[in-house]
Amino acid sequence: MIPFTKPYDKMIPIAKPWIGNEEIDAVRRVMEGGILAQGEQVAELEKKFSEYIGARHAIAVGNGTQALHLVYAALGFKAGSEFVVPDMTFAATATPLLHLGFKPVFADIEPKYFSLDASQVKKLVSKTTRAIVPVHLYGHPADISELSEVAKEHDLALIEDACQAHGAQFNGKRVGSFGVAATFSFYPTKNMTTGEGGMITTNSDELAETCRMTRDHGQKPVYTHSVLGHNFRMTNIAAAIGIEQLKKLDRMNDGRRKNAALYNEMLSSVVGTPPEAQWARHVYHQYTMRVPKGRDDLMKHLGQAGIGARIYYPIPLSEQPILKGFRKGKNVETAKAAGEVLSIPVYPSLPEADIKLIASKIKEWMAKQ
Ligand SMILES: Cc1ncc(COP(=O)(O)O)c(C=O)c1O
Repeated sequence: MIPFTKPYDKMIPIAKPWIGNEEIDAVRRVMEGGILAQGEQVAELEKKFSEYIGARHAIAVGNGTQALHLVYAALGFKAGSEFVVPDMTFAATATPLLHLGFKPVFADIEPKYFSLDASQVKKLVSKTTRAIVPVHLYGHPADISELSEVAKEHDLALIEDACQAHGAQFNGKRVGSFGVAATFSFYPTKNMTTGEGGMITTNSDELAETCRMTRDHGQKPVYTHSVLGHNFRMTNIAAAIGIEQLKKLDRMNDGRRKNAALYNEMLSSVVGTPPEAQWARHVYHQYTMRVPKGRDDLMKHLGQAGIGARIYYPIPLSEQPILKGFRKGKNVETAKAAGEVLSIPVYPSLPEADIKLIASKIKEWMAKQ
């Protein structure tokens, strides 16, 4: 670990990447080698990531949003097709749909694990629904078996938004190969990072080939543009960081789990601590509590004590200015969660003393309510 300077030494941040000399050395090797854009290191990260997930293909891109965009486009659905997405997620699950002329349909979450509720999805399926997009929110897998059944019954594509769930498991199998494709983000707050970066995983040779082309101007062979594409490539510099991060992903996730277990022990009597389903391995991208009363004041109290606490997410997607035109009705569980959730630092290098301090500040505040 390298010692961090500002802003990290001022407060306990909500997230902190675990960067060591191995990432710095790997970047230096790429810089000295001179091939900075997509090349050998990107191919190596793709190979290792696909093996890690257990998917046939991995296609690296510039970020998780681009991964979603390419997958949504590659399925070949007509403009106006509907995609069912959870109302509670980061906006990027839905915004690429708008760029592509598709319609997001917002389903409510189930309140325990904050993921797409299969019974709600069923109610929203129409003649124009083509896909469902479960999000493994906060690093806890969605109930894939129920959602797969709905997808199968209605002949819908299932796309996993695994941007927060690198290494999470559903019934002992890593998320990322349960549907037609999955997407990951390597933003610095995520369980592993490349600075900015993203990955698509899929078992479909055809979808992989399409995404490989569309991330690189749709060219094949080079300078023959046979499909309309983008420049959504990852750099070798980013991939070199990713290769090192992937080597320690399981260790980093173990660290998150250990920290979460400590919080659970100290906080379960005062707040709603996040449960782990018996079929799940939670990787705690976020440690998200429910605070039914005074959540915003608690966040302020923690902020004043130098503790980064955040709300993911304060506004349901269906109420976002750019998305509310697609709203069909209020999603009760999403609205309730948006008013109660609070995430606190859980990153793997968080010292035990800081965990105890954070827990004591929460308890202290709760005792005064
Ligand atoms: C659930 C979810 N989907 C998509 C994204 C988009 O990923 P990126 O920020 O790498 O574009 C994120 C990132 O925060 C996310 O949390």
